[in-house]
Amino acid sequence: MNKKIKKILNKKNKSKVICLTAYSKNIALILDKHCDLILVGDSLGNVLYNYNSTKEVTLDIMINHSKSVRLGVKKSLMVIDMPYNTYRNPKEALKNAKLVMKRTKCDAVKLEGGEKIVPIVKSLVKNKIPVMGHLGILPQTEKKFTFKGKKINEINRLLKDAKLLEEAGMFSVVLECVESKLAKKITKKLHIPTIGIGSSVDCDGQILVTDDLIGLNKTKLKFVKKFVDVGKVIQIAVKKYRSEVLNKKFPSFKHSFRNKFN
Ligand code: KIV
Repeated sequence: MNKKIKKILNKKNKSKVICLTAYSKNIALILDKHCDLILVGDSLGNVLYNYNSTKEVTLDIMINHSKSVRLGVKKSLMVIDMPYNTYRNPKEALKNAKLVMKRTKCDAVKLEGGEKIVPIVKSLVKNKIPVMGHLGILPQTEKKFTFKGKKINEINRLLKDAKLLEEAGMFSVVLECVESKLAKKITKKLHIPTIGIGSSVDCDGQILVTDDLIGLNKTKLKFVKKFVDVGKVIQIAVKKYRSEVLNKKFPSFKHSFRNKFN
């Protein structure tokens, strides 16, 4: 088993699993020092490309961003979201996941869904492709973006799906906007770590979209906490630059090239 996956599995009931998203090298380099897992999330469709849904994200887009992220990730486990319609059956999933693994040298892929994707997960795991799950709100197919676990049938469905995914061989599962008590129950029931996003402090780990965490992506989602406003820092630098260019302070002698004999 991949050593980084083993390390994450060993954190269950001991210490929280720290996860964040990255879409490019420079951010990945910063995150890598502090994270256990870095996800190239298809949320990049909304965050970077202004798509209405992650359905529009293609395999090529994911591969290109992931190649950049790979350059910044050394220590963390690198996981890539398989985009919508790239894993509709075991054959398609295996072909595309193999391509993603080969082109990006990532450690694992993430798929959205419950019982329906069990044969796909089994086939990938059998072919030595580590798989992470995603339950709760499923952005690739969701019609109603409200938290999950309000009704008894939904609660039972999620409990069953989580167990089935674990049995199919997944090493971890993201719980997106799952009601707090249910997230705790799922976390207790599973041997693999649950990674929460909007699903309470009781999950084994947490994930956020980094652009949300640093305040670059403007969002009012209840579960997002803006830990810092990087936009403000960029504004300061850009204003200084503009002023120095207008006042001919930049580029200075230090930042210019001169021939010695001039
Ligand atoms: O696409 C993504 O960034 C995700 C995380 C929010 C879990 O799936």
